[in-house]
Amino acid sequence: MYNIGVIGAGYWGPNLIRNFTQLERSNVLMVSDLRPERLGYIKSLYPSVETTTDYEDIINNEEINAVAIATPVFTHKDLAIQAMEQDKHVFVEKPIAASVADTREMIELADKKGLSLMVGHTFEYNPAVIRIKEIIDSGELGEIYYINSQRLNLGLFQQDINVVWDLAPHDISIILYWLGREPKYINTIGASHINPAIQDVATLSMTFDDRLIAFVQCSWLDPNKTRKITVVGSKKMLVYDDIEANNKIWIFDKGVEKPDHYDTFAEFQYSYRYGDISIPRIDSQEPLKLELSDFIASLENGNRPKTDGRNGLRVVKILEAAQHSIDNAGKTVLI
Ligand SMILES: NC(=O)c1ccc[n+]([C@@H]2O[C@H](COP(=O)([O-])OP(=O)(O)OC[C@H]3O[C@@H](n4cnc5c(N)ncnc54)[C@H](O)[C@@H]3O)[C@@H](O)[C@H]2O)c1
Repeated sequence: MYNIGVIGAGYWGPNLIRNFTQLERSNVLMVSDLRPERLGYIKSLYPSVETTTDYEDIINNEEINAVAIATPVFTHKDLAIQAMEQDKHVFVEKPIAASVADTREMIELADKKGLSLMVGHTFEYNPAVIRIKEIIDSGELGEIYYINSQRLNLGLFQQDINVVWDLAPHDISIILYWLGREPKYINTIGASHINPAIQDVATLSMTFDDRLIAFVQCSWLDPNKTRKITVVGSKKMLVYDDIEANNKIWIFDKGVEKPDHYDTFAEFQYSYRYGDISIPRIDSQEPLKLELSDFIASLENGNRPKTDGRNGLRVVKILEAAQHSIDNAGKTVLI
């Protein structure tokens, strides 16, 4: 049985606490938050869990094997480093840290100490996302031309990070997982409307080493909640709608082809294909449960979890480049 300490019991932390409590091989021993009312809430749900407003009580507790961090992004690195210095394995929410330099420091310490360091890129454990990777890898869609991801809603406005750092980690981690490679360069534009210093809408364009391109549009200022990713291939097209309760993946046998040879303009005609639509069946398992099981498995067998520190670094590299591009009016930034 692994004893877990959870730091941060705001919006997301309780989901970690619930899942670690439900897993067979883990147990939540202590929870820390700066806000006593959040600790009161946790105590009302889990009376046997100890609570503290001082995270050092968790980090210095010898019975605790691993620390899960669900605090604001700018605190991730210091909390993770302090926990690892006390030989705790660390699970940290996305994005893993606020900069590439911070992330590298975390990875180095985890490697040096032989500890597990994992980032909560939940969607890489989502059965629908895993199914789509299998579909892409099987070649069913053909050559991937482009991916378009939209993550839009009204709120939740953050005070310390912009919409790119808040929402895009999900889309970036999904896209890198599907494609198995990193983009060559990125252009990002964004604008602030509510809080002058914090962009609330942005669009990232990631260009890969061939004609493949991926767009991520994120917004806290949209009337509709949208979580939709379109993958367009040379053979078929796929739409993943995470808002749909059951039919999350739609595969369209649609496409367009140019004639190989033509002599006159009259002979030239694109051929469009409007074929069948198929909807693959997906298991309905909670992604967070699968994710935290992988973390516990990494403690048991010493293997790296799927979304380890390096996986977190790949995403932060793109976030940092996107920020640089936004700050320079959409300039091209090499990854
Ligand atoms: N994987 C996902 O789908 C998902 C979803 C939402 C949030 N998140 C991530 O979870 C993290 C937290 O987000 P949130 O929305 O829960 O934020 P939140 O502001 O609701 O909660 C953060 C909590 O951390 C506490 N805190 C801050 N510093 C602390 C410290 N030193 N010691 C103890 N407690 C401290 C705050 O009091 C607050 O209650 C972020 O990294 C966010 O990106 C992930």
